[in-house]
Amino acid sequence: NTPLIAAAVIGYLSGSVPYGLLLTRAAGLGDIRSIGSGNIGATNVLRTGNKKVAVGTLLLDALKGAVPVLAFTALWGRDAGLLAGIAALLGHVFPVWLRFKGGKGVATGAGILLAASWWIGLLCALIWVAMAKITRISSASALTACVAAPVIALLAGDRLLAGFALVVALIILWRHADNIRRLLAGTEPRIGKGK
Ligand code: G3P
Repeated sequence: NTPLIAAAVIGYLSGSVPYGLLLTRAAGLGDIRSIGSGNIGATNVLRTGNKKVAVGTLLLDALKGAVPVLAFTALWGRDAGLLAGIAALLGHVFPVWLRFKGGKGVATGAGILLAASWWIGLLCALIWVAMAKITRISSASALTACVAAPVIALLAGDRLLAGFALVVALIILWRHADNIRRLLAGTEPRIGKGK
């Protein structure tokens, strides 16, 4: 089925661009993989102390997920759009360019969720912000928001989106194994600090 293969391949390629790595390098901040947690995401880019580069990473990592979802939904319908979104998330987590060692999927996951359902995406973004205000911990905020997404979709009666959001949440949870260990040990750093 050509449309679905195209959605998967183009989604993956879009997601595989490691903006955090490229932007920090371009800004002369060194290799983000040897800073803080070593992750290529916006939370870790913020540990360089450069807020603009961190915000740029957040936006581009979200857009590289959102754009394929919107484009393929418009072209070939919701199935193709959601498939492109999952592919973009996998591209971010397993980028061929970095020997398949990519990020944790929070910003890209937020982008694809916002594109799949703007109001559920927005609600989850608000959950992230509320949790970040309370805990000051990025990973704890992301984990709460990503677990909330399939529950909200299910309550809204959208079973396809709930399944999609569940897959996204499972990938994000799995990528946060180290963070979860640190959260349980009480050693996870606050936003902008530590590793
Ligand atoms: O977006 C990733 C975030 O939840 C955790 O990042 O660098 O603290 O492991 P980091």
